[in-house]
Amino acid sequence: MFNKVQETVKFLKEKGLTNPEFGIVLGTGLGSLVNYISVEKSFDYGDIPNFPVSTVKGHSGKLIYGELGGKKIVAMQGRFHYYEGWTMQEATFPIRVMKILGIDNLIVSNASGGVNPKFSVGDVMLITDHINFMPEHPLRGKNDDRFGPRFVDMHEPYNLKYIAKFEALAKAKNLPIQKGVYLALQGPTFETPAEYKMVKTLGADAVGMSTVPEVIVAKHMNMVCLGISVITDLGIEGKPETVSHEEVQKAAKTAEKKISDLVTAFIASF
Ligand code: HPA
Repeated sequence: MFNKVQETVKFLKEKGLTNPEFGIVLGTGLGSLVNYISVEKSFDYGDIPNFPVSTVKGHSGKLIYGELGGKKIVAMQGRFHYYEGWTMQEATFPIRVMKILGIDNLIVSNASGGVNPKFSVGDVMLITDHINFMPEHPLRGKNDDRFGPRFVDMHEPYNLKYIAKFEALAKAKNLPIQKGVYLALQGPTFETPAEYKMVKTLGADAVGMSTVPEVIVAKHMNMVCLGISVITDLGIEGKPETVSHEEVQKAAKTAEKKISDLVTAFIASF
């Protein structure tokens, strides 16, 4: 894998992708955050050596290089989910590429189902911590010390200073923000009422099908992470509601401007 990552990084550098400072993973419905980026280069995943190619509707599958908030950034427009059939190593390959490109800061976004009764659809939740409830682990297997250690410290998966900074920016802009724990299940089914209840009982505020493997791999490589989730539906006990991918995308869109403004201001503040 290390050699594959090197090969991909070499390709991207030769194409002019140099000195990025921030990596961004654009989640479901948030892909148009890309409109805030002054794009210098855009690569279809299919054209990047060793990259998996995304299959989900609404995940267009492009690696974007450009400027946001006055900094060079690399953004993934479309991510790789475990439920699509990728191995955990494949799904997190682009995060390895970002790190070897020189990126130390990772911003991950997603859509999630809220189980905290104080949440509403369209809320933006900063992820303060996560629970890995995926059936596989991206670091299972022989460890490659060139990426990071065998046993990875996870005492602060989402950087507390970044969370505080983001919160302060939201406050200054009068944009309300939630905070909470994100629990990852493999999907692709949305949760049953009993599963939403389980998620809440386990101590989470929101549930989704992504992000946790990426953050684990980022922490393996000592990256600093900020996680942002849009609450696109609610799994509140006694109030079962239908959920569809279309509704999730629609609800995520409503938070798009807020998140885009805040992420831009966040990056600009460095
Ligand atoms: N569950 C899992 N994943 C999701 C949800 C949900 O309710 N909403 C958006 N992604």
